[in-house]
Order: sequence, then C-alpha cells, then structure tokens
Amino acid sequence: MSKKLLLKDAHIEGIRHFDVYRRQGGYQSAEKALKMTPEQILEEVKTSGLRGRGGAGFPTGLKWSFLAKPEGIPRHLVVNADESEPGTFKDRYLMEFIPHILIEGILIASYCLGSNTSYIYIRGEYSWIPDILEEAIEEAKRAGFLGKNIQGSGFDLEIYVQRGGGAYICGEETALLESLEGRRGNPRLKPPFPAVKGLWERPTVVNNVESIAAVVPIIQMGGEEYAKIGVGRSTGTKLISACGNINKPGVYEIDMTITVEEFIYSDEYCGGIPNGKRLKACIPGGSSVPIVPANLLLRTIDGKPRYMNYESLSEGGFATGTMMGSGGFIVLDEDQSIVKHTMTLARFYNHESCGQCTPCREGTGWMYKILKKIVEGKGEMKDIDLLWDIQRKIEGNTICPLGDAAAWPVAAAIRHFRDEFEWYVKNPELAQTQPYGITHYADPIPLKVEENDN
Ligand SMILES: Cc1cc2nc3c(=O)[nH]c(=O)nc-3n(C[C@H](O)[C@H](O)[C@H](O)COP(=O)(O)O)c2cc1C
Repeated sequence: MSKKLLLKDAHIEGIRHFDVYRRQGGYQSAEKALKMTPEQILEEVKTSGLRGRGGAGFPTGLKWSFLAKPEGIPRHLVVNADESEPGTFKDRYLMEFIPHILIEGILIASYCLGSNTSYIYIRGEYSWIPDILEEAIEEAKRAGFLGKNIQGSGFDLEIYVQRGGGAYICGEETALLESLEGRRGNPRLKPPFPAVKGLWERPTVVNNVESIAAVVPIIQMGGEEYAKIGVGRSTGTKLISACGNINKPGVYEIDMTITVEEFIYSDEYCGGIPNGKRLKACIPGGSSVPIVPANLLLRTIDGKPRYMNYESLSEGGFATGTMMGSGGFIVLDEDQSIVKHTMTLARFYNHESCGQCTPCREGTGWMYKILKKIVEGKGEMKDIDLLWDIQRKIEGNTICPLGDAAAWPVAAAIRHFRDEFEWYVKNPELAQTQPYGITHYADPIPLKVEENDN
C-alpha cells in the first residue's frame, strides 16, 4: 500500500473545516515553519527533491531559489489552480475536500518567499470551489493563521482567490499572470521569467496546487525523510487522476515505486479494465503527453517493467516512452479508436490556442481538419504524412508550450498507430461502424527506434 501524505485524512468527515483539519494535526507544519528562517525552509524543500506537480516536473526548491529579492519591492506567490488539461482533476479533489492543506502550504511557501499577498488562480469552470477556498481562508484567519502578525511571528499574509477566464491557455504561467492582471490571457515572451518580473512586474513564483500542498508534509517530516519516499528523482508521493476504461476511476496518491501494470490492474488503484477488455493504449500524464501502446506502457523497450514515476515513464524518450506530466492517467481499451481520439484532442488544442503564434494558430486548425477528414472516411494516404509534417513544424516554434502540447499527441498517435490511420484511409466505410481494435502492440515486441525522432 502506497504511503499517503496529502490524502491521508481525505476520508475524515468534516476535514474541509479548520477545526477538524486542526484536530488531525493541521497547521502544525505552519507553526513549525514560522519558527524557522526562510532559508531553512528553502533548504528543506530543496532537500526533499520535490518536483513541480503542474506538468514540467521542475524542482520546486530550485525555482524558489531563483526568486529575485530586491529590497523594498513586494514579491508574490501565485498558485496555479487552472487545471484544464483533459484527464487531470487531482487539484480539484484537493481543493474541494482538503482545502486547508493548500492554505497551510501557501502560508509556509509565502513566508519562505517573502510574499505578503498571495493568489490562487482557479479554473473558471470550477465554479463551486472558490466558495470552499474562501471559507477555508476565513476560518484560517479567525484562528490567527492568516492576516496580520500570524501566530505572533510578525509575518502578515492575505490570500486572494481569483476565478479564471475558462481558457486552457490561462494555465500557462505567464498567460495566467496576464489574466490575473485583468488582461487577455496571452503568454508572455520569456525572459524575463516570472521570478524576476512576474505579477505586476514583481518577482513571482507560480506553483501548482499539489506542489504547494506537498510543502506541508515536507516541513512536518523534514526534507530528508520526504526524499526517502519514492525512487531516484521521483521523491515523495504523487496524485494521479485516473479515468477512461478502468473499473475504478478516481484520484489516487501513489509513492512512485509501483509499476504501471499494478496501477492499472490492482484493486487498490484502477481495478483493471471493465468487461474483460484488453488494454490498447494509455496517456499517463494528461492529454498533452504522448500516447503509448500497451506493450510500451507496461514495459520499456528493453523489456523492463515500467514504473509510475518521472524517470521510468519517460525512459526511451518520445520514440518509445512518454511523460508523467500532470498525472492525468487516461486508459483506452481495445474498442477505442486512436484516430478519433486524436481528432478530439486536436479539436481541443485548436479551440484553446490563443492565436498569438502562427504555427500554433494555423497548424492546430489544419491538424484538426485533416484528422476530421480521415475520421469521416475522406482521407488520403498523403494526409498522414502531411499531419506528421505539420506537427513537426509546430513543435518548438511557439512562445509557449501549448504548441508542443498540441503536436505531441498527433506525433505519438502516428508513430505508434500508423496502421490504424492507414486502415481508416483504406476502409472508409468499415471505419464508420467498427473499431479497428487492438493491434500487434498489445503484445510486447521490440520496436525499431527511429534516430533523431522527436
Ligand atoms: C497550455 C498550458 C497549460 C498549463 N496548465 C497548467 C495548469 O492548469 N496547472 C498547472 O499547475 N500548470 C499548468 N501549466 C504549467 C505552468 O505553466 C507552470 O509550469 C506550473 O504552474 C508550474 O508549477 P509547478 O512548478 O509547481 O509544477 C500549463 C502549461 C501550459 C503550456
């Protein structure tokens, strides 16, 4: 059984409220942190090896250490609760059921970073959660854990909850800052990075909800103990939101030492695939990470078991591996159409492109149109090569990584399931009524790795 740090009290009645959270040991980490120096807290976070849980996996302590510290200029912590990546719904769970772990994490992080005004920027569609967060903020304030001179420490903190504009792009950190400042959420050119010029041009740290919540157990147990959980550079626990063709969709906290096979098939987690169907493919880290066929999901190209952690999931690069991303684990069984699925994602990215960069604005539309043509049985063989070509021209050529996020699912689908795309072109009528089904990828066979493949 995986160790639980963030969700350990999730089952306790009333844990949403301060009194119950406090009774379970809540705010003890904050009390401990306020007696430490900001430098000591930073050291603990660095030692913990915590990597950002928003998708990129950048070391949190290192990010905090980049924060510019000019005298007399306010600094800010902004919590990214935009969570719009299809397949990812773990932050929602934390905020809805255990909001105080986030508030406590913000208090510790703000004290460490020297932010007296911190923000939670929350996805607009999570319309009921801001009230929950605001109630938690009020409760914490009444108990002396927010406001002026917190617990006699001399440290002041206000937290504001800002509802997002309902756009996926507003999860990109600089688009988020634009939106928070009241403008259209267009990503900014970097540099300058937010650590130097962020919100209101002040030094700013943007962190994911789960990253900030994880600071609470890190301070409680110490960075060194936290780092002992997990493996390699995948320390601590990770929340995974699992969905698709599984018996038990939900949010799971794992300690990153379990295999992917165990995560999908054991009753402790996803509980296997319904109706005795076979596993066809999986997108393990949210819609933008590469889809992998069953054989490469369960084992690496060398035949080693694949584990639910950053290193193992990305082993083999994009040729044979994928990414941990934000932990949005989407399972596809043998009845699912990879081509249709890829079209759905392409439509999403096309809709969500902010339109600033030509390759993304135009390319995502072209990809969607070509995929739709193939799905509708009007595709030609050359369309598959054209699709490949377009995604290559988007990747790496845009201001923000939304372009990459749109390109990778298309690239991976063609790389691993080209036969299914060709089947759609060759059998336009059959494809309308019958799923292509499971391919040879269901069985572990070594694949040829293309050199210089992206
Ligand atoms: C299009 C796009 C959407 C994103 N959406 C989110 C999001 O909803 N939540 C999030 O934490 N990070 C999101 N990110 C990543 C953020 O830009 C940023 O890296 C992250 O908030 C940093 O937090 P972390 O270091 O704690 O992971 C997104 C990135 C892109 C390019």
